[in-house]
Amino acid sequence: MLNGKRVLLIVSGSVAAFKALELARLLGKAGASVTGLLTEGGARFVTPHALQAITNRPLAQDLWSLEEEAEGLGHIALARGHDIVVVAPASADRLARMAAGMADDLAGAALLATTAPVLVAPAMNWAMWAHPATVANMAILANRGVHVVGPEDGPMAEAESGPGRLSEPPAILAAIGAVLEETLPGPADPGLEAALDAAIAAGEDAGGMAPPGNPAAEDADVPAAPAAAPLGSATPALGDVPALRAARPAENAAAASAARPLVGRHVLVTSGPTHEPIDPVRYLANRSSGRQGHAIAAALVALGARVTLVTGPVALPDPAGTVAAHVESAREMLAACEAALPVDAAVCAAAVADWRVAEASNGKIKKREGAAPPELRLVPNPDILATLSHHARRPGLVVGFAAETDDLLANAQAKLARKGCDWIVANDVSGDVMGGAENRVHLVTRDGIEDWPRLPKEEVARRLAARIAEALA
Ligand code: C5P
Repeated sequence: MLNGKRVLLIVSGSVAAFKALELARLLGKAGASVTGLLTEGGARFVTPHALQAITNRPLAQDLWSLEEEAEGLGHIALARGHDIVVVAPASADRLARMAAGMADDLAGAALLATTAPVLVAPAMNWAMWAHPATVANMAILANRGVHVVGPEDGPMAEAESGPGRLSEPPAILAAIGAVLEETLPGPADPGLEAALDAAIAAGEDAGGMAPPGNPAAEDADVPAAPAAAPLGSATPALGDVPALRAARPAENAAAASAARPLVGRHVLVTSGPTHEPIDPVRYLANRSSGRQGHAIAAALVALGARVTLVTGPVALPDPAGTVAAHVESAREMLAACEAALPVDAAVCAAAVADWRVAEASNGKIKKREGAAPPELRLVPNPDILATLSHHARRPGLVVGFAAETDDLLANAQAKLARKGCDWIVANDVSGDVMGGAENRVHLVTRDGIEDWPRLPKEEVARRLAARIAEALA
């Protein structure tokens, strides 16, 4: 998949920029030709000499340079001449610029002009990643079809820890392969596997080269040596690249790609209750908090999936990295779900109201002294789970929930058949499950029933996401 592919590698300003050198080396080893593009911030962390030497091609840096333009490094030539554009690391600022469509530097202009797939590998402090501005920018980018790999959770340069570490180069390499495979369908590429094997072997080598007694080289997202010394014109040896000195050992490199088995997959999740209007100020609803559905969306993002979360009104923030559609009624939820198709899998965790008021009033229904209370006529809502299960663009895997107070498993099995979905997550809601922190569920499939212990909803979500990854593998 990577052999002969032309990759535009945009390196923006982050302490993790040194890892881009290793990524460029892995891409070259897999047979790709890489054009490096260094932003102003990126050039503060790695030198132009290093990136140019390792890609073995002229480097692009300046929107206004006549020389670069003459060398075919103008923004339009860069935009047209590559099969994929990879932004690694993608700083918070670069993601904001991309979301806003800014074109005031070479990277921005090339990203705006390209029609090739774009993959971003975010890297920033955990608080910057969790900031609503970044969350909103990521949602905009994901909605536009921008692919994302990472970030990882772990120690950061500032002696803090959290999600925001740039993914390891082998994981980014795997994501590039997955994006190219998605956009250029074809048989699996032995070149990619070979490159990954080589990356793992390189990690082994580099692990051996880490300076003894330097924990930062193994744990923190900082180079063991000054960010990147100029490497001269020759392709540097393995140990010369700072990224390699900081690289994880082989098992971590393998784990980095294995830990994100849903890269390149799109999953739809419904969550929360629906509100069915009676009049402009009143509605029918239920007690769903959205906790379980939101946790599932977050767990799927953590495994690398592109997640569209269609949520009814809840008090929870959108999980980072999801593209969220906020709806009120069942009919709005169905429309948002259908708009998200095609997807690889759908998880219907929303507690959709079964009925709505037949004729919701446009004006507030007045309470009149002595008059009988209004009678509400209810009609059934569309069944989103059943609609998706029988859809012309049916997701490959459809998962529903069954919240029951009686005859849990018999009802869940009947629901599986009636709705036409593949799995039902059955939970007994006679206790404090609705709105609570824990859930005890049974996974009902056509092959049988698995009983899971009582677990925090986040752990139920992780287990379910892992099962979905297995099923889609
Ligand atoms: O029929 P029941 O409401 O018990 O089914 C629960 C499952 O069906 C859940 O997965 C829920 O998200 C889904 N559902 C739906 N649309 C409805 C009703 C339920 O998607 N109108």
